[in-house]
Amino acid sequence: MEEITVNNAPPSSELKYQIQLNELEATMLDMKVKVDELTRENAQLKRENSQLKRMPLFVAVIVDILENGEIYLRQQGNNQEYLTHAPEDLRPLLKPGAKVAVNNALSIVKVIGNVYDSRIRVMELVDKPHETYADIGGLLDVIREVREAVEFPLTNPQLYTNVGVEPPKGVLLFGPPGTGKTLIAKAVAHEAEARFIRMSGSELVHKFIGEGAGLVRELFQLARENDKAIIFIDEIDAVGSMRTNDGTSGSAEVQRTLMQLLAEMDGFDNRGNVRIMAATNRADMLDPALLRPGRFDRLIEIPLPDKDARLQILKIHSRRMHLGEVDMAGIAEQAVDTTGAELEAICREAGMMAIRREADHVEMADFISAVRKVKNEADTTENRMYT
Ligand SMILES: Nc1ncnc2c1ncn2[C@@H]1O[C@H](COP(=O)(O)OP(=O)(O)OP(=O)(O)O)[C@@H](O)[C@H]1O
Ligand SMILES: [Mg+2]
Repeated sequence: MEEITVNNAPPSSELKYQIQLNELEATMLDMKVKVDELTRENAQLKRENSQLKRMPLFVAVIVDILENGEIYLRQQGNNQEYLTHAPEDLRPLLKPGAKVAVNNALSIVKVIGNVYDSRIRVMELVDKPHETYADIGGLLDVIREVREAVEFPLTNPQLYTNVGVEPPKGVLLFGPPGTGKTLIAKAVAHEAEARFIRMSGSELVHKFIGEGAGLVRELFQLARENDKAIIFIDEIDAVGSMRTNDGTSGSAEVQRTLMQLLAEMDGFDNRGNVRIMAATNRADMLDPALLRPGRFDRLIEIPLPDKDARLQILKIHSRRMHLGEVDMAGIAEQAVDTTGAELEAICREAGMMAIRREADHVEMADFISAVRKVKNEADTTENRMYT
């Protein structure tokens, strides 16, 4: 009886500590074993990881990042699309449009290069074009209008805030080919010291099938990141033609691109540092949605040059030529119905004639033959177009 009492007696405090110590040591041993196991597992994973990274990787573009954190990818080349996850450390680098490398299991392994699609290179990017207003012959009214709508909002925004009006958001230049639409856009970018970002509407829909909308988004994103930028969409009729609703995928693609363009235009501020210009030969074919207020709400016609304008254009393009006795006004009079581009060609041709004569300067006769040659060429190409 007594023995039992002794055994059941509460242990001395020394004993109590001893037991606790033993328990702790046991736990520590357990932990050590676990640490060992984890270290081994970690090494194994690292090996597997580097193995995976060494395997041939596929290149894909991030289309979108879903709300639940899944990444929507499109593989380049075969256009397959899929959803995948990305490791935590890469997440901050992932943006729509970014190029990533994925492994066999389609997990993202790394981000490649910059966040822009390399095809953005198809856009013409000029930091500050060298063309100036002095390079444009005639078109004084057009230049004034374009300056008010595009240049001053960039250089002198307080002009608009003072009066309390919003500058037009987009300016559409329309007129025959070769009349100087692209030239004007570049000159404005030059004078406003803005970056010039040109994208051709027909390339957008014909060259990058399936990606037009994405490229439009990138174009605007790129413009927004600049201090000042002018977006110039050439041949906008290719994206913005009247809706045909014939239900083919081609027109669906054009639709998507146009929708993205409209959304981007609606989404930015009139007073921001991005101005939009567009050009077309066929203003009559444009979707009315594009011409609504808040979009391309300023339409500017670029006409064929009249006699005075032709003279100025001839002077501009012959200013570096060694001229003999040339009556430029007479040439301007003869060169009826020519565009700026054709007048430039006339000057070039006249120079060629002089070279052929082995002369060191250009004479009136050279210009007269050049007019005939360029006008003939223009006529035959026109005829060819209609036969
Ligand atoms: N008004 C002009 N003054 C001086 N040069 C001009 C003028 N118009 C056209 N040119 C010359 O013709 C070239 C072609 O003009 P530009 O590319 O601006 O035409 P465009 O109207 O954009 O034609 P397209 O509709 O085919 O794109 C210019 O680079 C320039 O050398
Ligand atoms: Mg052009």
